[in-house]
Amino acid sequence: MAKGPKRVLPKVFVDKSGIHGDGLFAGQKIRRGRRIIEYTGEKVPAGEGVTRSRGDEELTYIFNLSDKYDVDGSLNGNEARFANHSCDGNAYADIRNNRIWFIAERDIDEGEEITFDYRLQGDELYPCVCGAEECRGYMNDAEDEVVQEIMGETR
Ligand SMILES: C[S@@+](CC[C@H](N)C(=O)[O-])C[C@H]1O[C@@H](n2cnc3c(N)ncnc32)[C@H](O)[C@@H]1O
Ligand SMILES: [Zn+2]
Repeated sequence: MAKGPKRVLPKVFVDKSGIHGDGLFAGQKIRRGRRIIEYTGEKVPAGEGVTRSRGDEELTYIFNLSDKYDVDGSLNGNEARFANHSCDGNAYADIRNNRIWFIAERDIDEGEEITFDYRLQGDELYPCVCGAEECRGYMNDAEDEVVQEIMGETR
């Protein structure tokens, strides 16, 4: 029986980022809508992440999967854990069947850094240095009440 073409994920690599530390970069042109990489790691109970992001308290590889679970990219994770936040990211995270995939939100050029909007939740504010024209100043969810208040004040 004839088999369809094998779906291969686009090439990506980790390198120094202009935003923060290391970042995830496109190793080839990636078309809008294309699946880029799965965010892998160990599934841990939600909230346990704080204790698991040993060392640098500011640096976290925790991805919130659901009310119950987080994925800790620092444990058996892949290059996806290096994706930095941007308030105007070129990718977004799509969660299906408890798996996290980064999808290109627009065409991404070879060598371009792959970023997405972290939309962090919770009471704490996490300052952002993404450099985007529309940077809201925080990696927190734009819908977050506190962020809305601050944005209102600075408008
Ligand atoms: C998943 S790591 C991303 C990879 C990280 N750059 C590294 O070198 O390991 C997430 C952390 O990177 C930093 N970070 C990512 N995007 C940022 C941004 N736009 N502004 C400030 N810090 C950022 C924060 O410390 C955040 O907790
Ligand atoms: Zn920003």
